[in-house]
Amino acid sequence: MSQDDLRVFAPGRVNLIGDHTDYMGGLVFPMAIDRGITITGKQGGTHLEVYSGYENTTAHIALPVDDPTKQSPSWGRLLAGVAAEMGATIGFKGELTSDLPVAGLSSSAAVEVATALALGHTGPALDIARLCQIAEQRSTGVPCGIMDQLASAAGVDGHALLIDCHTLEIEPSPVPDDVEIVIVHSGEHRELTNSQYATRRAQCESAEQIVGPLRTLVESDVAAIEDLTLRARARHVITENNRVRAFSQALAQGDYVQAGNLMVRSHRSLGDDFEVSTPTLDALVADLVASPGVYGARLTGAGFGGAVVALAEPGAINRGFVAKPSGGARIV
Ligand code: GLA
Repeated sequence: MSQDDLRVFAPGRVNLIGDHTDYMGGLVFPMAIDRGITITGKQGGTHLEVYSGYENTTAHIALPVDDPTKQSPSWGRLLAGVAAEMGATIGFKGELTSDLPVAGLSSSAAVEVATALALGHTGPALDIARLCQIAEQRSTGVPCGIMDQLASAAGVDGHALLIDCHTLEIEPSPVPDDVEIVIVHSGEHRELTNSQYATRRAQCESAEQIVGPLRTLVESDVAAIEDLTLRARARHVITENNRVRAFSQALAQGDYVQAGNLMVRSHRSLGDDFEVSTPTLDALVADLVASPGVYGARLTGAGFGGAVVALAEPGAINRGFVAKPSGGARIV
């Protein structure tokens, strides 16, 4: 790296509780972690040209970008999407590296947020997150919510973020240091996530057409939804919002037993009502929860495979890795 090189870092995230609620304007409780995506290089030129050791490939993107979906390699679509949303005409040449050890920790969002910084975005975290969310939707076709991009852009060292995805208000909440947040990968890679994610979101929106904004309802309101699948999806969103609120209070009060129970209930709801868990994820959660010193565990993120997050006494879990609550994306 020469002296006039720019180096930017955008963290991955783990969501402690509150999944499949963001796109319904609900509550989420993610934290940025101490690992993520780094982009190093120089601004200038008419191309966004970034090498990645992942598959040993280079994304070579002519600016301005018209259609980000046409890029290859496919990871280059994320960068192209950000360049398109920014209307970037001045390029960047450099290298992208990742120290995220497993999938499912929002590496895509971190790539997008890092790209925005590399291309010179200097706006507030919320603006970057919104832009990157739209970029991801446009370049992958997945109708994602804002949680991942916002956690990566707005992370606060030592804190998780209680985010109201309707008002987009962010309340940093200290993560106590007498507990550990441990991430364990299920070894299962997501399949069909894109279409299933879109289907789940559409089902929630259909439920909302019948009973009104889910974020404003109580659990018994779902009785008005006749279709049992839609009713179950709505019940997950409503009860998950309640669990996020209760979890953030329990964590703040040091009631880790209660916090852990809420994580387990969240996992069950994601499995039974939202149907995004898998037998492998269920077995991993059951196994972790049965171990001494573990308060709770749940799948984290979209589901269908990926990672599990656990809340535990320090040193209680000797697999996976301990994630530290960290600051958001920055120039380093
Ligand atoms: C993915 C999406 C997020 C969120 C989670 C589920 O990570 O990108 O917006 O919907 O799934 O909570």
